[in-house]
Amino acid sequence: MKIFNICAEYAPWCRTGGLGDVTAALPAAIKAAESDTLVVTALPLYQQVREELARRDMVLESTGLELDLEVAGRCFQGRWFILDSESDSPVYFLESDELFSGPGLYEMAPGSGLNLAHRFGYFCKAAYASMGSLCAGRPDLLHLHDWHVAPIAWLNHQAPPDGRKPKSILTIHNLAFQGWFEPEDAPEFDRHGDGEHVSFLKLGIEYADQLTTVSPRYAVEIQTDEFGCGMEQTLCHRGVVGIVNGIDYSQWDPATDSALVAPYSPQDPAGRIACRQALLARAGWPTDLDQPIFGVVSRLAHQKGLDWVADIVPQLKGLGARLVLLGTGDEDLESTFQGLARTHPDQLHAMLRFDDAIARQIYAGADAFLVPSRFEPCGLTQLYAMRYGAVPVVNPVGGLRDTVYDGHKTKAQNGFLMQVGDSEGLYLTMARAAGVWHQQPERWAGIVAEGYRFDSRWRRSGAAYNRLYRSLIAAPNDELRS
Ligand code: GLC
Repeated sequence: MKIFNICAEYAPWCRTGGLGDVTAALPAAIKAAESDTLVVTALPLYQQVREELARRDMVLESTGLELDLEVAGRCFQGRWFILDSESDSPVYFLESDELFSGPGLYEMAPGSGLNLAHRFGYFCKAAYASMGSLCAGRPDLLHLHDWHVAPIAWLNHQAPPDGRKPKSILTIHNLAFQGWFEPEDAPEFDRHGDGEHVSFLKLGIEYADQLTTVSPRYAVEIQTDEFGCGMEQTLCHRGVVGIVNGIDYSQWDPATDSALVAPYSPQDPAGRIACRQALLARAGWPTDLDQPIFGVVSRLAHQKGLDWVADIVPQLKGLGARLVLLGTGDEDLESTFQGLARTHPDQLHAMLRFDDAIARQIYAGADAFLVPSRFEPCGLTQLYAMRYGAVPVVNPVGGLRDTVYDGHKTKAQNGFLMQVGDSEGLYLTMARAAGVWHQQPERWAGIVAEGYRFDSRWRRSGAAYNRLYRSLIAAPNDELRS
């Protein structure tokens, strides 16, 4: 089986969040489940990729494959490079300075007069036009991720009917980002030509042969008014399969993580005490503190419920608890947390930046970990937290509901679930967690142990994707869409 994996993010070369972690973990997960599956990945060659390559002293190899393509009436040139031609999961980057050299993955060069419709419209057309060359023959299936590359499903649908045309899967990592543009910026994707705005994601939702998302619960939620972001009817009609994300156990292992002051494991947990002390020292607090530390590692965004977290900071003292927060994002939230850290220095330590090593030190040093998202397609941080022995306290939506359970309907407990999604719901659940930490240390240790036992390896999901690929490839074209 030959799979062409097309995406806008891929760790460690270019990522802004969980999307890049998942697209990068997928090829190995797919291959581990079925060794004869070949996964070839295509990405834009952003400025961030060049910087990461330079940092690691690595260079790309030219493929000699060049192409000129028109987007929105303008002609752009591109050249394909390969990361490591020996790799059994090759990764290709498309160079086009005019389009991809802006400062961010989703930020164009100032004054270029171009926007993201040009950037990703070109990338979609180029990836589709080059698939045969990059995959050494036509791929069996196109695996598309999120709005940036969703129009490829439409390009594939429009291609002449042919028994060997690839099938397409669109995986929705976050339905809230839909890629809406003026029709004149994306005329080739304005299929009705009626002057209405064009959504890249909607094209994929309508024309992919199969839709998936990153947890079973989110698959159900996005077919409702509450979580469907206006796409619920189409999603209901088309159907969505939920396959929960995994995490890479070799990259996320407290026994080998070089960002930690001491290694530890569930069998040999002593090093975790040193990690907790190091986190307290970083916050400027006594290292023998007898209070639970809650951790947050998050984009500071409305989706993530960080405004609820800000609301409870003044109540932390009463709970006998403290909070360490790491993240960047909305300016309003950043300045709120800055202010709160000044007025409540003994309760809140806020680091308003992104730093992978500090994130790992929080998973390893905090007692509990907050993920109070308003919606969460899968969520990876609760999985990292459990792997590192921090107990997740979450709003049970999407993947959070599929991975965290708190003993109400199950015998086992690996975390705490909010009953209501608001500040008070968060406060009450943190109070419950802090109460167990203070008064029932043995029960707390059992919850931590259950988190360590939770299996979030990619294996099962890798096998699920392979099964889905096989059944799609086997299905006749006319059975897939109605
Ligand atoms: C997005 C979602 C997150 C998910 C990730 C990877 O970032 O918001 O919930 O885990 O994609 O699929």
